[in-house]
Amino acid sequence: MSRIAYVNGRYLPHGAASVHIEDRGYQFADGVYEVIAVRGGHLIDGEWHMGRLQRSLSELQIRSPMSEAAMAVVFRETVRRNRVGNGIVYVQISRGVARRDHPFPKSPVRPALVVTARRTPPISDKVIEEGVAVISQPDIRWLRCDIKAISLLPNVLVKQAARSQGAFEAWQVDSDGFVTEGGSTNAWIINKEGHLVTRPVENAILNGITRRRLIALAQAHGLVVEERAFSLEEAKTAREAFLTSTTAFVTAVVKIDDTILGNGRPGSQTTLLRQLYMEFLAETGGKTP
Ligand code: PDD
Repeated sequence: MSRIAYVNGRYLPHGAASVHIEDRGYQFADGVYEVIAVRGGHLIDGEWHMGRLQRSLSELQIRSPMSEAAMAVVFRETVRRNRVGNGIVYVQISRGVARRDHPFPKSPVRPALVVTARRTPPISDKVIEEGVAVISQPDIRWLRCDIKAISLLPNVLVKQAARSQGAFEAWQVDSDGFVTEGGSTNAWIINKEGHLVTRPVENAILNGITRRRLIALAQAHGLVVEERAFSLEEAKTAREAFLTSTTAFVTAVVKIDDTILGNGRPGSQTTLLRQLYMEFLAETGGKTP
């Protein structure tokens, strides 16, 4: 089946879809994006993603290319045309096309909207049963990591460092020794009291939708969530650790640098949290469209 991409008002075969060479997203990374999980053809927490997208746009003073309702229709139509049951929608909005000049274009330009959707394979049994390793890396990013901007070079570099060392993710560490987040995931630990600890939402991290959903699910289950910064040292002595994202869901971390956590297997609380999240996905994905 050929893939279909939405580009500025048209649904096109993937191979024929393109944007202009002077698109500011291409030249300046002047744009924002979202990745939304799809289960059973449904967007998971679509309204929260839409809210975060609008916030990213407004922080960068990029006009929304269309109303939220119209955009939601495009997301769903792209899912439908690509026959995605379980997978992701990728949304990218750039400021638009203008002759290369750093300040915003003087006359208003039309923001460029690209939407793609694809099926994703389920997370492997090995990852679920064995957990993953992370490495630590200095956080060299800018001070507005709350904006889901397409300028991801530091994230690309830390992910590549992780991959070349056989790890799944890199936990970025700020100049005070505190973990901010992974290259494309939020970071969590579980302390000796069984409390979930994750960095509070401010400019140093992305306000992850999976993070937000998991906090709600955990609290509804009677678990205590502490939103505070934790150091790399604290993480290495934590009872359990895990990471969250739209694509990794809830994945156990069993090794940080050379330190093996606990008995080196996913802990019981992380396994419970993963189950809670998977049940939530199954419930939402099982609803009639
Ligand atoms: N990444 N932190 C960063 C830096 C991220 O890029 C992401 C998501 C997250 C988790 O956010 P959420 O739960 O909303 O997916 C945290 C996406 C999946 C990506 O870039 O592919």
